[in-house]
Amino acid sequence: MNNNKQIIDEKIKKMYDLQSKALAGGGKDRIEAQHSKGKLSARERIDMLVDSGTFREIDMLVHHHSNEFGLDKQVFYTDGVVTGYGNINGQKVFVYSQDFTILGGSLAAEHGRKICKIMDMAMKVGCPVIGLNDSGGARVQEGVISLGAYADIFLRNTLASGVIPQISVIMGPCAGGAVYSPAITDFIIMVKKSSYMFVTGPKVVKTVTHEDLTSEDLGGADVHASKSGVAHFAVENDVEALDLVKRIMSFIPANNVDESPYSDNDDPIDRADEALNYIVPANPNQPYDMRDVIHKIADQQDFLEVHKDYAQNIIVGFIRLGGRSTGVIANQPAVLAGVLDIDSSKKAARFIRFCDAFNIPILTFEDVPGFMPGAHQEWNAIITNGAKLLYAYCEATVPKITVITRKAYGGAYDVMNSKHIRGDFNFAWPTSELAVMGAKGAVEIIFKREIDSADNSEAKEEELISEFTEKFANPYIAASYGYIDEVIEPKFTRQRLIEAFNMLENKVDRNPPKKHGNIPL
Ligand code: HXC
Repeated sequence: MNNNKQIIDEKIKKMYDLQSKALAGGGKDRIEAQHSKGKLSARERIDMLVDSGTFREIDMLVHHHSNEFGLDKQVFYTDGVVTGYGNINGQKVFVYSQDFTILGGSLAAEHGRKICKIMDMAMKVGCPVIGLNDSGGARVQEGVISLGAYADIFLRNTLASGVIPQISVIMGPCAGGAVYSPAITDFIIMVKKSSYMFVTGPKVVKTVTHEDLTSEDLGGADVHASKSGVAHFAVENDVEALDLVKRIMSFIPANNVDESPYSDNDDPIDRADEALNYIVPANPNQPYDMRDVIHKIADQQDFLEVHKDYAQNIIVGFIRLGGRSTGVIANQPAVLAGVLDIDSSKKAARFIRFCDAFNIPILTFEDVPGFMPGAHQEWNAIITNGAKLLYAYCEATVPKITVITRKAYGGAYDVMNSKHIRGDFNFAWPTSELAVMGAKGAVEIIFKREIDSADNSEAKEEELISEFTEKFANPYIAASYGYIDEVIEPKFTRQRLIEAFNMLENKVDRNPPKKHGNIPL
């Protein structure tokens, strides 16, 4: 009996010994080196991300089986990635966290297989995958096997797209083809200073294009959050990044058959805000900050802005309305007069498609003077890119409500979730102007001859502009055709929106069956 206990205890001890080897990662020195760069270790990151005590690791004892280039002398359990599942805000998630202390977090056969394993499970159970990326890329010693492992992940990222939410946090290097896994996922968060993403690094860039750039200049968090739009968020450090994942998770459902998250709060549904009545300046050329409108109507004035620093002429992000998570798309008159251009169209289209894929209702605030003119825009395909936004709105079947606060001009009127493309409720404030173009432009076209032949052309033009404004720059002609369901007093917007979205709660709308559409990419 005693002998039996001893044998069993030894076996259990062996199990714990192996586990503690795995838990040691690449060793104390490498973990210290990681800390000295201001980075947390792979396991510390997971601890900070998931609800306390909920993480269960799988494949802890996986290691590589390669003998190439001395790898047989560098065998580490986990193979450089910690994988498993746990809860975030009580919601189930699968997580992988690359361990830079083990072979630089480089990805090879087993490392890739582990990520694929949790992705396959996440698809079966319908829960999000959070990837914490910190890797030197393809493991050089394993050659093409590493490339194959990446492709296995890319395929799964693609198949999972629109089925389960995928969030990528870039907390270290992410270079070469490795960037394409995060790129396919729904949201990318980058940590300033310690992370970078590029297809080819500074050395190659210098050789090929003679541009002399640091990693930060070429593909740091700020660059991707503001210039390229690759990153949706740039944050100061690992802790902020992980907190942000938790915040995003609170706004998104577990999968594409789940409902948009609902959580009670004590913000009264009928909270009227007098300030909304006076937010739009009387002068149509004067800007105002559409964020103020969003904050005033949102539950507890809480707004999680996505892509805050990119294409700032449009605003996208999440709010709660009467407790229900809702996606907001809003023209921003304070930046470029809220004009639609290539970048803002792409930004909004991608966000709309995320919301639609995951049953998150869409609220649009509209104040748009039209599409941006110019050779740069035309040569870089404002036609194709603007069409992305149009397509995304047309295709979306979730509840869709628009509030026109001021300008709804030209093609942009159609694009911004107009009634004609299945806007469910289209409201307008009394300050709104629905027209083919602004009064000045319109008068100069249709009354050119009268203006030119007048004794005082300037005075004539002014007179015609005010006549045109009086007649057409308002919501009532559109309302007379039912293009606007109702003209509402701005201060009651929150209540009207919550009631309207409640009415749409059980909306069912479907697109024709097809393999997939052909969005103008
Ligand atoms: C194997 C790697 C590795 C890699 C780093 N290491 N990258 N091992 N394969 N790709 C190892 C190092 O040997 C070292 O091991 C440890 O990780 C830490 O690396 P350091 O260089 O000491 O760290 P640091 O100075 O911080 O530099 C990090 C780095 C650099 C910038 C990422 O390591 C680097 O340039 N690595 C190579 C990057 C690369 O070219 N990868 C392939 C990209 S192409 P020890 O034992 O000393 O701790 C690619 C294609 C994917 O990924 C294609 C998909 C289709």
